[in-house]
Amino acid sequence: MDVIIKKDYEEMSDYAAEVIAQAVRSKPDCVLGLATGSTPRGTYARLASKHKQGLDFSRVKTFNLDEYLGLEMELHKPYALDQSYARFMYEELFKHLNIRKENIHLPDGRPEDPGAFCAWYEEEIKKAGGIDLQLLGIGGDGHWAFNEPGSSLSSRTRVVDLSAQTIDDNYESFYKGSGIKKEKMPRRAITMGIGTILESRQLLIIASGEKKAAVVAKALQGPVTSEITASAIQLFRGNAAVVLDEPAAAKLKIC
Ligand code: GLP
Repeated sequence: MDVIIKKDYEEMSDYAAEVIAQAVRSKPDCVLGLATGSTPRGTYARLASKHKQGLDFSRVKTFNLDEYLGLEMELHKPYALDQSYARFMYEELFKHLNIRKENIHLPDGRPEDPGAFCAWYEEEIKKAGGIDLQLLGIGGDGHWAFNEPGSSLSSRTRVVDLSAQTIDDNYESFYKGSGIKKEKMPRRAITMGIGTILESRQLLIIASGEKKAAVVAKALQGPVTSEITASAIQLFRGNAAVVLDEPAAAKLKIC
């Protein structure tokens, strides 16, 4: 694992966007795994600029990590007024790229049969040839995607309950301005599993801000444990880059 420490959020985002751009340049039909949250926003804005300057996404396929369960949402409708991760992805990234609709894969937040949907999603990843590069943030409780504390490190795509901390954190970052009351926030989600994520060929983890410093240190340098599912990074044998800004790296021992 390479740990790259950048001065601030802007430089972290520059670096992460360039890693993704290089993956697309070297394999124009690559399969990208994508993440939500406030951390990737800067990375996505830079990918949009790179596309304006000619970076071609017409053959790229994407798979998103997760989605809230039970939201009112309209998949593939960029301006749907909802709080779904699907909408986040369209607003922050997809609508700015020449990516084909049929190449975008998002977990369905209102599946008729959640178990069947999760199995289908795993199959689609396999059919696409697996994920070449998976982008990941890290949750305040150490999660990857929505793999909350206690999730098996070999877990697959499935329905999960959100932890109390995630509900608090995500309400702050996602819901506050929307007027939606916290009680209305979904308590469950669909998420790729840690086992699914670890099958990616390359990982790109980003984290920013002093709020993440303690959990970043635990994930990278503490024991590998299902209590901090991002600690699974230590089990990954492929090429992994962890890109941090200085505040997020502040609690790391020498790396
Ligand atoms: C959510 C997402 C995660 C993300 C996390 C961190 O819980 N499911 O994939 O890593 O938020 O979000 P932020 O980047 O806003 O700190």
